[in-house]
Amino acid sequence: MKLYTTITSLQKALKEERLKGLKVGFVPTMGALHKGHLSLVEMAASMCDIVVVSIFVNPTQFNDKNDLANYPRTLESDMKLLSTIRCEYIFSPSVGEVYPVPDTRKFEFGALETVMEGKFRPGHFNGVAQVVSRLLEIVLPDKAFFGRKDFQQMAVINELVRQLNLPVEIIPCDIVREKDGLAMSSRNKLLLPEYRKCAPLIYQTLKEAKEFAMKKKVAEVKKYVVSQINATQLLNVEYFEIVDDTTLIPIKNWNETGTKVGCIAVFAGKIRLIDNIVF
Ligand code: PAF
Repeated sequence: MKLYTTITSLQKALKEERLKGLKVGFVPTMGALHKGHLSLVEMAASMCDIVVVSIFVNPTQFNDKNDLANYPRTLESDMKLLSTIRCEYIFSPSVGEVYPVPDTRKFEFGALETVMEGKFRPGHFNGVAQVVSRLLEIVLPDKAFFGRKDFQQMAVINELVRQLNLPVEIIPCDIVREKDGLAMSSRNKLLLPEYRKCAPLIYQTLKEAKEFAMKKKVAEVKKYVVSQINATQLLNVEYFEIVDDTTLIPIKNWNETGTKVGCIAVFAGKIRLIDNIVF
């Protein structure tokens, strides 16, 4: 496993691998790695000859300066974790390396960036699109791996790749959960014990809703999920929407075509958790 911090040195090494005919798999991350990230890396290793993991806390996707400043930066322990599985290259560039000049590109993703996360985190997906397109252009992977937990991010990235005609296959990977059902996230370790204790209620409620969903109206299911979670004083639902999985437009009736996904964001104190379930 080798650590690269410059684009030129990484590209030189990857060019040699490609010349040998090896397929490159890429897992972009912001570090603070957990088992969810490792499952992406393992998936990449199972499908590709060479695995590149980037660790870069991207400033352009944070709309809150404090959130950016407090985001955990744990390169040493991240590298230790990655050394336990197959990963050939780590790319951990500085901000100046990724953005030698400020990135002023403005992407247009329509509803994909205005609903749910887009509504509550304005500019977030534009920043994600800037960094992901930049990283994909640097690494030039055959396949790139993203987690389904960030469901809306997946939809935005698929659209980004389509709009820019990037020669990469995007591979969605399943959500990895703690034993009690809480979706794994770098933010989980920031939860105070009392919040950590009640956080599994989010996924429990989503599962319950899935069971009776089709027997109730969409609006009733939404109301149930929000009231059930908010009943615990420590949790506060920011949004819960049931959307079409490609357009991300909220559905009104179950008989609308397409796969439906319930997406939720919940504050557990100051920590914001997201999760989703396919109905
Ligand atoms: O999902 C993340 O960790 C980030 O949004 C990503 C895709 C690495 C871009 O910074």
